[in-house]
Amino acid sequence: MERTLIILKPDTVQRKLIGRIIQRFEDKGFKIVGMKMIWITKELAYKHYEAHINKPFFNSLLEFITSLPVVVMVLEGPEVVEQVRKMVGNTDCKKAEVGTIRFDFGLSIQNNLIHASESVQDAQREIKIFFRDDELFSYNEYKPLSTV
Ligand code: PPS
Repeated sequence: MERTLIILKPDTVQRKLIGRIIQRFEDKGFKIVGMKMIWITKELAYKHYEAHINKPFFNSLLEFITSLPVVVMVLEGPEVVEQVRKMVGNTDCKKAEVGTIRFDFGLSIQNNLIHASESVQDAQREIKIFFRDDELFSYNEYKPLSTV
């Protein structure tokens, strides 16, 4: 089953939107198989955003992502990488489609609330950066029709 990495960024934490954003993924039917609050260090941020180190916005992005704690989460489900990217919307919240998380709650290109892996390959790399194997769980979902 496919997995993706989500980061609920400092603006989500500061604006108390953690629950509402997680709710959307649960409503959609994706399974949370790992989740924790962490304060991203500069070292971790360099690893995660290594493809952007030479971009003009990197210092600003680094300062932002290390400014407050974040929630990191691994979601599991069919085609979860692509489906979650659709739910999240365009990087620039002003260009995000109506109904996406970034359209509904986001303000700008930096304060865009959430990171979601771009490809299956990226997801595998990013999950390893933030989670040890024993922090990820395989479990069966609750079956409400059970008689016991
Ligand atoms: S790029 O250049 O197209 O590869 O960048 P993109 O994939 O759109 O964005 C990568 C992450 O960088 C953040 N970003 C910015 N931060 C601050 N200022 C500016 N101008 C800016 N442009 C992009 C953006 O929020 C992306 O963060 P993640 O966590 O990957 O969504």
